[in-house]
Amino acid sequence: YSKAFFSRELLEWYQSAKRDLPWRRHRNPYYIWVSEIMLQQTRVDTVIPYFHRFIEQFPTLQALAEAPEEEVLKRWEGLGYYSRARNLQAAARQVLEQYGGVVPADKASVSGLKGVGPYTTGAILSIAYNLPEPAVDGNVMRVLSRFFRIEEDIMKSGTRALMEGLAAELIPEGRASDFNQALMELGALVCTPKSPQCLTCPVMGRCLARLDGVEDRLPVKSKA
Ligand code: ADE
Repeated sequence: YSKAFFSRELLEWYQSAKRDLPWRRHRNPYYIWVSEIMLQQTRVDTVIPYFHRFIEQFPTLQALAEAPEEEVLKRWEGLGYYSRARNLQAAARQVLEQYGGVVPADKASVSGLKGVGPYTTGAILSIAYNLPEPAVDGNVMRVLSRFFRIEEDIMKSGTRALMEGLAAELIPEGRASDFNQALMELGALVCTPKSPQCLTCPVMGRCLARLDGVEDRLPVKSKA
């Protein structure tokens, strides 16, 4: 059945294709959180040096919480969207006060942190804690809309809910961390918005968009 095929082949592919990214070297929830906030509006290649410098200056959540705000903003300089840095520090202070400095491992607490939306909640819980939560961003919606040929408008909130349900079903038992990162990786490296590299795709054989030659038309995304 296609769902089991998809999950199995994607995980297998990820073992050999995954990039060696700094936040993948340790399963440190604070590192993963910082990386996900940086990656929200910024490309991986740009984020890498900023991530290293940020972690060097603020090696722990407590260090970040206790730093003067202007130092945090200075470290963020050049990345843009500075509200991300302000929210990240405010949330670090929240974690220090409310959870003793440990990034919480439940959905209600994580989603209550400043600057952390549904995608980032799922990313932290799955990547850092291996909990079976979906982490659906634009990359993931593109991959799923193509493989399963979902023609629903991804700008509609109902479509996101549909994708989250599907993404949750696809997570293999005990493999949430690798599986969610594999989905992101496929979207970033193979199943790209323009000219997807289908010939190198581990799930091309059962991709409904590819089989019908409509991969360029998916996902459907309304303007506005
Ligand atoms: N984009 C967003 N999160 C990512 C991650 N953990 N790895 C690679 N690309 C990403």
